[in-house]
Amino acid sequence: MKVLVIGGGGREHALVWKLAQSPKVSHVYCAPGNAGIAQMAECVPLDVNDFAALAEFAKREHIGLTVVGPEDPLLNGIVDFFEEQGLAIFGPKKEAALLEGSKTFAKDIMEKYHIPTGAYRSFTEYDEALAYVREQGAPIVIKADGLAAGKGVTVAFTMEEAEEALRSMMVDDVFSGAGSRVVIEEYLVGEEMTLLSFVDGETVIPMVPSQDHKPVFNDDKGPNTGGMGTYSPVPHMDDSVVQQAIDTIVLPTARAMVAEGRPFRGILYTGLMITEKGPKVIEYNARFGDPETQVVLPRLASDLADIFLAAVEGRLSECQVEWKDGAAVCVVMSSEGYPGSYPKGREIAGLLANTDDVVVFHAGTAEQDGHIVTNGGRVLGVTAMGYDLYEAQRRAYETVRHISFEGAHYRTDIGAKALRKAEHNKR
Ligand code: AMP
Ligand code: GLY
Repeated sequence: MKVLVIGGGGREHALVWKLAQSPKVSHVYCAPGNAGIAQMAECVPLDVNDFAALAEFAKREHIGLTVVGPEDPLLNGIVDFFEEQGLAIFGPKKEAALLEGSKTFAKDIMEKYHIPTGAYRSFTEYDEALAYVREQGAPIVIKADGLAAGKGVTVAFTMEEAEEALRSMMVDDVFSGAGSRVVIEEYLVGEEMTLLSFVDGETVIPMVPSQDHKPVFNDDKGPNTGGMGTYSPVPHMDDSVVQQAIDTIVLPTARAMVAEGRPFRGILYTGLMITEKGPKVIEYNARFGDPETQVVLPRLASDLADIFLAAVEGRLSECQVEWKDGAAVCVVMSSEGYPGSYPKGREIAGLLANTDDVVVFHAGTAEQDGHIVTNGGRVLGVTAMGYDLYEAQRRAYETVRHISFEGAHYRTDIGAKALRKAEHNKR
């Protein structure tokens, strides 16, 4: 079977890498892909939002399965478009992807179906939002309703920060429309965890948990990014907490979407805060996380193509999904300036061939005159596997230190929190 992956970042590189290992998959295409993906798949220069061209390509090449990486095409209805033409595609339809596309929609679902999350109010009027923020006081969380590339959330610790965030979203319109409606949310205290699940209607198969590092600098300092690194498992989080998240959040969400007449088929990403009162939802996404995918898929023992096909054919409940023991760590190398503006086209040195334990997933790279150069804010996701987190972390950083480009930045503490807590628990 031929497979088409849509997208061109680190997450899509991980999808391509895993799908290419399936004995059922004869050829992998990726649109548009990147320089790293081009080493293991055939890249097709098509825009992720040009549905007509993508569907035409899928028909012409007899693609047996299309897999969508990023949220944008999902929210724009790529799954509806492909299905109308009888093409097999894995991902939620537009009406289900709204779980990610509108924070107000997501919050309303959680309220209606008693899914644990922070208290909130949604506003379209700046004056009313401001009055509410002043009444609640800091710390408080302000979120643009629509998509804002992972940057639409301000955790305000002072009133000044809160008012500044409201003003830039609702008055200055920095997210061009995505912030004309805002959700103002209770500040939740606890530890964050990501749980990804394969979902088909009411069938839910959770993956192994992982933890992202959003702020750009060590010790969670600096502005939020799309994600600077991940690890899996999250050893200091008890299995019972993960089970509680499945029982009180993931399953009820899948059932809620069926009850709403918007069954979700795809990857449900639940961003959780593990509070003293148990797990609560920080956000839903309607797709694999980036860079969570880069540590979760290396731990998947089963054939990913089998799982996707089963979901597309409505047979997910028959799937046995197996995971590998051990751990994975992904360290993101980014361009100087990211998450603000950054230069492109800088030559990357020190890239070695992937091994069984170390894979360098490309996030933003391109080929220029036979060289691999930077082409995005997040450039590489260096993933290593190991017997435990120590070993995975050591291998990841050994590889990172071998790679260089001008202005390269990475956090040196990916996974450190888990290792500190594990040490603490031993004592
Ligand atoms: P998001 O883009 O929704 O993932 O939010 C970015 C980051 O803001 C999250 O990873 C959390 O660290 C933080 N955050 C979001 N919502 C809350 C909340 N209600 N309480 C505390 N922190 C939050
Ligand atoms: N790593 C966070 C996300 O994919 O949204």
